[in-house]
Amino acid sequence: MATDTIPHGAGIIGAAVPRIDGPLKTTGTALYAVDHNFPGLVHAVAVQSTIGSGRIRNLDISAAEKMPGVLLVLHHGNLSGIYRTFPHEDDASMGEARPPFEDNTIYYWGQYVALVVAETLEQATAAAGAVRVEYDVEKPDVRKDLGEGFTGPIESSWKRGDPDQGLSQAPVVVDETYSTPVETHNPMEMHGSVAVWDGDNFTLYESTQGVVRHQISMAETLGVPRENVRVISRFIGSGFGGKLSPWSQSTLAAAAARQLKRPVKISVDRRMMFSNVGHRPHTQQRIRLGATADGKLTAIRHDFFSETSMLDDFVEHCGEQTPFLYSCPNLVVTTGMVHRNVGAPAPMRGPGAVPGLFALESAMDELAIKLKMDPLELRIKNDSEHDEGTNRPFSSRHLKECYTTGAEKIGWKNRTPEVGSMRRDGKIIGWGLAGASWVAARIPCQATVELCPNGRVRVRCATQDIGTGTYTIFAQIVHEKTGVPLDRIDVILGDSSLPAGPTSGGSMATSAIMPATASAANVAVSRLMHIAALTPGSPFHGAHPESLTMARGRIHVKGEGQPQLVGAALHSGGDLMANGVPFEEVINLARLSGIIASGQTHPSFEDPKAKAYSLHSFGAHFAEVEWEPEIARLRVSRIFSIFDCGRIINKKAGANQILGAAVMGVGMTMLEETRYEPRSGQPINGSFADYLVATCADLPDLDVTFLDYPDYIVNEYGARGIGEIGMAGVAPAITAAVYHATGVRVRDLPVRIENLLQSKILEA
Ligand code: MOS
Repeated sequence: MATDTIPHGAGIIGAAVPRIDGPLKTTGTALYAVDHNFPGLVHAVAVQSTIGSGRIRNLDISAAEKMPGVLLVLHHGNLSGIYRTFPHEDDASMGEARPPFEDNTIYYWGQYVALVVAETLEQATAAAGAVRVEYDVEKPDVRKDLGEGFTGPIESSWKRGDPDQGLSQAPVVVDETYSTPVETHNPMEMHGSVAVWDGDNFTLYESTQGVVRHQISMAETLGVPRENVRVISRFIGSGFGGKLSPWSQSTLAAAAARQLKRPVKISVDRRMMFSNVGHRPHTQQRIRLGATADGKLTAIRHDFFSETSMLDDFVEHCGEQTPFLYSCPNLVVTTGMVHRNVGAPAPMRGPGAVPGLFALESAMDELAIKLKMDPLELRIKNDSEHDEGTNRPFSSRHLKECYTTGAEKIGWKNRTPEVGSMRRDGKIIGWGLAGASWVAARIPCQATVELCPNGRVRVRCATQDIGTGTYTIFAQIVHEKTGVPLDRIDVILGDSSLPAGPTSGGSMATSAIMPATASAANVAVSRLMHIAALTPGSPFHGAHPESLTMARGRIHVKGEGQPQLVGAALHSGGDLMANGVPFEEVINLARLSGIIASGQTHPSFEDPKAKAYSLHSFGAHFAEVEWEPEIARLRVSRIFSIFDCGRIINKKAGANQILGAAVMGVGMTMLEETRYEPRSGQPINGSFADYLVATCADLPDLDVTFLDYPDYIVNEYGARGIGEIGMAGVAPAITAAVYHATGVRVRDLPVRIENLLQSKILEA
């Protein structure tokens, strides 16, 4: 890694630091969950239900059991010792409430009905195909209209003023319904588990966004003490929220390993990824906005339905941003949870905010058009000075500056509002914008930092890096505090036996790990200074520990300037006071195996200072589309993303998060939809050939700007999260641009060619 361009010392915070784990990934040496192999390991393959609702009448495993290499066939008639979990203070529970094989009822297409374990993957696959299942079939309920058959209850939240009266008195009203389809996470690395059982203990190799959460959930599922379960997830090929909780394949692998007393491996294949491991649920949202003739919001109603499975109570909280994004005296959000015969939903990047802001921000664009007002001006006019939902000040909100910066970048002042009025290179172009927001918090974390006698520093924490750059953030903090070069810092993550760390979720890992790591590093350095002063033979023996400091990995006297980097020869003949001594020399002189210290992060929800504020990040996307009416071709050509996410700790990984989220947002807007066949309830486009995600060829020019205002209410580094917010606001910015170019308002995602064929511009 070219480290020579990275600033040393404190300057590393905020620098564009390449990922320290990058070479392991690009050289194929990083081991993912199912890359793990053990002597005696056997393979499990799940059998899935081929109906979407009903009961198993007969399950015949006699042929499968006799096939070569088959060791075990599990199903609802013979699996025992598996329990349900419930969400508790550790926020740990399984992805679906019902454990596998609990009974003979089928709740969704693809539900696991049997598990075949054999010596080889091929034998298990063949035998899985020989399991015969007869069903009493019922018609699955996968109705698209979420209001159809809905009998309640409706939950009301965030009510203020009188929204209905506000709407009836408003001179200008927008009343439209928006829907977002089921979207599937589709991380590159599919789910998979390797379970090793050694008599009393389980070691589970998993692809999880929370090793600790996975450990707690699986201990409860397996009915064993937490300390008997160790979860390892060193590298993860992303998760997007789908790996926040364990899914049934982890339970099945562990159960089979316990029974067979052999390591068991199971993989969830790409098709199974569409039915068994979560999805972003379908939403249907009616937005009503009331405004004065000069564009001041007077009332907002956000009434939405969110789909879930038959047994789970997951809600996509579409109305979370509605109460505080705009200033408005009368407001209410209502939620209706709708059960369908689909697998359990799960959080997916920006849950709630991403579909919710598609609806709210689309309605704002429609309101601007009705008012004949610039949509940018409408946003600025209704900007909120404080959080009117909770009546708290924002810790830091620069949404207006996101808008003005974005407007500057795209050249918004040159925009002409008439549909189809802007042209470039013979194509019609359309411009649209939308705002984004996501909650911030500081969640608990413990970490240790250890100065080792070999001159390396080890930092340990039971969190994980889902591909976002968490390894590198730890190394940056340790470097900031010690000056030890990045290639001498060992970051140990992805193991539940380490000091308890955060889930990689909610965009909260970075703000959680920073205070704990910084505090552990500070204590370790302070202990080192004491040892340097107390150890006979140390060059600093007798000095006051407070007079010593550490830079570039060396101990030196404060005020003597920083040690200069002139190679290893320096400390033998050089001036010790000025140039210092390598820290490991003092550790070795003191005959210590290392100097270790722990630190912890106190959660913001227990901090009276933080609790007095509304903690949120903000941002805006400005999208451009190119429209060729002659051939009905639409392309997203440019997106400018301007974000206010506190201080950015790593400019490279940070920008990468917003870029990746914008890419996912393009996919959501233009391509993505999981479709269920109405008779069987089967997700029928469950493959990368049929479920399209945005690829390089679909992408516009992407341009990310961070405002970089530190938010010291969230933590001492001023960092908020950035993982999810970048996906919010992409879809409404693009569909606003689509309207501007074509005159077609798309309220049901994704944008389809058949929508665009309605364009009047086509005939022009
Ligand atoms: Mo995020 S949906 O909390 O991984």
